[in-house]
Amino acid sequence: MNIMKGRALRATATAAMLAVFGAPVVAEELFYVSGAVGNAVENFKTLVKPWEEATGNTVTLVPMPASTTDQFGQYRLWLAAGATDIDLYQTDVIWAPQLADHFVDLTEVAKDLAPTHFPSIIQSQTVNGKLVALPIFTDAPALYYRTDLLEKHGKTPPKTWAELAETAKFIQDAERAEGAADLWGFVWQGNAYEGLTCNALEWVKSFGGGQIVEPDGTISINNENAVAALEAAKSWVGTISPDGVLAYQEEEARGVWQTGNAVFMRNWPYAYGLGNGDDSAVKGKFAVTTLPVGKEGDTSAATLGGWNVAVSKYSTKQEAAISLAMYLAGPEAQKQRAIAESNLPTIIALYDDADIAAAQPIIPQWKDVFLNAVPRPSAPTLGKYNEVSAKFWSAVHNTLSGQGSAAENLELLEVELTDIKGSAW
Ligand code: GLC
Repeated sequence: MNIMKGRALRATATAAMLAVFGAPVVAEELFYVSGAVGNAVENFKTLVKPWEEATGNTVTLVPMPASTTDQFGQYRLWLAAGATDIDLYQTDVIWAPQLADHFVDLTEVAKDLAPTHFPSIIQSQTVNGKLVALPIFTDAPALYYRTDLLEKHGKTPPKTWAELAETAKFIQDAERAEGAADLWGFVWQGNAYEGLTCNALEWVKSFGGGQIVEPDGTISINNENAVAALEAAKSWVGTISPDGVLAYQEEEARGVWQTGNAVFMRNWPYAYGLGNGDDSAVKGKFAVTTLPVGKEGDTSAATLGGWNVAVSKYSTKQEAAISLAMYLAGPEAQKQRAIAESNLPTIIALYDDADIAAAQPIIPQWKDVFLNAVPRPSAPTLGKYNEVSAKFWSAVHNTLSGQGSAAENLELLEVELTDIKGSAW
């Protein structure tokens, strides 16, 4: 290409980007903190490159532990101390009410971008009229299953949790007898952290046991269906799931799955693209469906997850940080992330994008699943959500590891939650 013409084209593209993201007065060096699973850290450089080129600013990702619970603990300390060296935080969908005071209100700057996102997701990041973070992707888990193994053993994807346990056991036993000594039936996230709250909410809700604390603030967890759900899950540990599942987070489950050592896995969509990667033992050998139900007639439940970007009130580089937040929540970055990381976009139009559908078929397939996903009770419990969730996952973890029965632990949990609630959430 003619060099002058190439330059002119680049200059036009840059001018267009500057019009959107604002011209820098001085080039800033930003710091973005984020937990990371899968290929998120590697992809970040590629993701932000167009923004860096257009604005002249640079951004460094400071990787945090994979566990959202660990991130939350650390971020809360930094924010409480008014840390000025972190400009942007990648925030979990459940954190908005608890961290709202520390972030810049993005309502005005995002007034044209926000209406292109699903309204419920924007709503989840709005606290007392303040838009505290911009959505970058949403999340709703899938039941991953091995098409090759189900077909070989004449099984179909399970509709109920009991069917899942039965099929998992059948294939596990048969395959082990043929020499696949390391194969397990079902892997999921059983560590004592926020991820277990997500898994257990799905069991409870799909058994008709409610959602721990209902949207009106009522504590509902101590009920028979919830007890039955936790008992079912306990019966998996050491039979279709390794004992070690009680220490698994997302990446440990994906590790077992992606080396070909599980029939079923519960995980978020990020595991889809990686599972089809060239280094994956299950490439082309799996499909996804919705999570099972307690009994026929019950509804499948997927916990609503997702991540956002928030600008710290204590950042000394707010203008550049806001520009980056707008870019990360915008269509170009969301599309790149969808294709490279199989993350679900929050921009409505991207569900009709042919490139995304071709690269990651789970994305259009998962639109209705996340639109019907069950929120964790972070809205009704306000600033107390983290404590509520920690009590819940502890009660579940105790049950799964044989410390007390489900009935005993849920009865105790009800007392603890009532105490945390006091006269009002
Ligand atoms: C996923 C979800 C997030 C959730 C976490 C639990 O990252 O997007 O919302 O809290 O998993 O481990």
